[in-house]
Order: sequence, then structure tokens, then C-alpha cells
Amino acid sequence: MLDLAKKRIVLGLTGGIACYKIAELVRRLTEQGATVDVVMTEAATHFITPVTMQALSGRPVFMDAWDARIPNNMAHIDLTRGADAVLIAPASADFMAKLVHGMADDLLSTLCLARACPLLVVPAMNKEMWDNPATQRNVAQLRDDGIAVLGPAAGDQACGETGNGRMLEPHEILTDLIASFQPKVLAGKHVLLTAGPTSEPVDPVRVLSNRSSGKTGYALARAAREAGAQVTLITGATALAIPRGVQAINVMTASQMHDAVMANVRHADIFIAVAAVADWRVTNISTQKLKKTSEGGGAPIMNFAPNPDILAEVAALTNGPWCVGFAAETEKLAEHAEAKRRRKGISLLVGNLAHQVMDADTTELVLFDEQGVHPLPPAPKLDAARRLIAEIASRAPRKA
Ligand code: C5P
Repeated sequence: MLDLAKKRIVLGLTGGIACYKIAELVRRLTEQGATVDVVMTEAATHFITPVTMQALSGRPVFMDAWDARIPNNMAHIDLTRGADAVLIAPASADFMAKLVHGMADDLLSTLCLARACPLLVVPAMNKEMWDNPATQRNVAQLRDDGIAVLGPAAGDQACGETGNGRMLEPHEILTDLIASFQPKVLAGKHVLLTAGPTSEPVDPVRVLSNRSSGKTGYALARAAREAGAQVTLITGATALAIPRGVQAINVMTASQMHDAVMANVRHADIFIAVAAVADWRVTNISTQKLKKTSEGGGAPIMNFAPNPDILAEVAALTNGPWCVGFAAETEKLAEHAEAKRRRKGISLLVGNLAHQVMDADTTELVLFDEQGVHPLPPAPKLDAARRLIAEIASRAPRKA
């Protein structure tokens, strides 16, 4: 299902050059199934035209509190009732100051005051304006009032200066908006995850690895973050972007993954081991590239030593986090998965059939716990991850 299906978003634009990026945001919101009602301040119309916004949203654009198109002349009420969120992007320093004081001297500020749904603001301004104590006081007050302030980012600014105050990119705003609708079932928790493959060097240019794409682990990291957790992701090499708001530590080998997990496990409430960790590492790593014409003309001989079992080690810690393991099997899933759960000493193990899920965007998970076997419906990996996070949140013990 689309992430914003059945959601109606009031998208407010205030004056700022970042308005040019909002055309793209409207496209992305509608692609995700949202109905978008655009409201612009007079200043915003100097940066991008209402016609552009109307064409992209496919709906009338509102600017004026006295708009004669609204029969009862109460645009501020009509637009916000039934809306799932009001999103202000870009939010100027001036507009945030008005919000802090509850001012309502145009349609957009009036509907923010009159709304009965969450308000998210995406600041965009010159770095000196952002750093100004007045703006900082206002941002702190908005947060205190329960208003979500998304960003800003740091970097090059349209004015030619560099610093804090850049508006988040449309895809980042979209991700944060989608996250705002997810239940905060892991608020206050720290989740530590492993994901992706490990790679064990053979020589300076070759590794032994596996076909894990990291998609399930990354989807879980995103879903945990959406659920309000602080997330640390220890990841092997993948082609995926680190999910927004997730702290990532890149590793290559199982030993590095082990060390990174152990260095971060103390703060974790929940540990989810999704990584496909190599069982063995090469002990006679060649310092030079192995040649086809090796001594004797035969294939190279490799010696192996077992890698540490990260999950089993974390599960055995006193006062360690609540642990979730994964098992990708090619046959006899129930048998192997339940045996693995017991062997590793964990309360929840998530199984799947490797050939069904490897490289795929969908997955079919089966949960194994003390109570038995619980198959989850097949679903896109992000939907499955959100469901799994809900299952984990309902099982993980509350820390005293
Ligand atoms: O040991 P096995 O690979 O069968 O079990 C898979 C589960 O154990 C996964 O959760 C995987 O991340 C974890 N694991 C680990 N360290 C290893 C091997 C597997 O954390 N060395």
C-alpha cells in the first residue's frame, strides 16, 4: 500500500527561494497517494506560481482568507477539518515567529491556529537568520508546543553563504512526514541492528561473501526509527542508502561487525541480528594477489577459522539487550529455525526461505517464539519490517 494513501495533507508555502523545490515535493506526496491542498502566503507567490502548484496537486490553490470560492467563507476551517497533517515548507523565520505568538493575519497562519491535526514545519532561511537567538527561541518554543520541526540541513545556500538553514530535500521531507504517521511503539528505546553481508578477505583484492542485499535489515532500521527508537545500524557492504535518522557504522568482516556490536551493545534495549555473517574467515590471507599460476599450478589452498557468533554472544550477556535473530533457510524452515532459536538462547527468531526473499523487494516472515510458530502475510519489505517492529515492541520487556 502507498505510504500516504487516504491521507489529506495541507501543504503551506511561505516566502523563500526554497519554494522552487516544493513542486517536486508535491509530486512525491501525490505519488505516495496523498491528496494535497496547497495554501500559499503572498510572499510565496513571488517565488513560485500558484498555477504550478495547482497543476501538480490537481486541486485549487488557496492564498486569501477572503477567497470567494469557499461558500461559507471559512477556508481556515474547511481546509483543516479532515486533514491528516499541516506541513509548512518552506517555513520562513517570520512565519515561525507568527506561529509562536498564535498570530492569524492571513489564511495560512489562521488555519495553523485553527487546525485540529499535527503541524510540521520545515525551516528554510539564511544561516544568520537561523542562528539568530530570536529564531532559536522560536524553534524551541514550537517544539515545546508539540510542533515537529524538520531540519534544517547545513550546506551551500542560495544567498551564496554556507551554514545551517537549508531546507531539507523533498525526499527527506517525504520520509519524515511518512514517519510522523507511524505509531511510536519504540519511543525512548535504543535499537542496535546488524545488516547486510560480511566479506572475508582472501587476498588484497578478493573476498568471500554472500548474496545478502541488506534490504530487510535496512527496512527494519527505518521502521525502528519511524517507531521512535534511536537506531544504530552496523552494516556490511550494501548498495543501499542509510535510512534517515539512523546512525550507521560500516564494517566489512565478521570480526569488525563483532567488535562494533560489542562497542555499542551497552546502550541497546533491543538487538536485532539480521546480518548474514560469514561462518568462517580465511586465516592464511595472502599479502599479494593470488595468481592463477600459483605454486604447483593448482587451486589455492585456504585455511579457515570460525567467526564469533555475535548473536549468541550478545544473548548470553548479563543485563544485555532483548535479542531477535534471523534465519534464512533453503529447506525445513520450521525445524532449522526453532533449533536455531533454542541454540542461540533467544526469545524471538524470524525465519524466511532464502530463495523467496533474496534480492527481492517482498518477504514472507515466520516468527518462532516460546508460544510457537506465527507466520506473517507476504508483504513488501518495508511493510513487513513495520509489522515486525510492532511484534517486537509488544514482546520486548520494559526496562525498569
Ligand atoms: O548461526 P546462523 O547463521 O545459523 O544464525 C543466523 C542468525 O545469527 C542471524 O540472526 C545472524 O545475524 C546471527 N549470526 C551472528 N553471528 C554469526 C552468525 C550468525 O550474529 N557469526
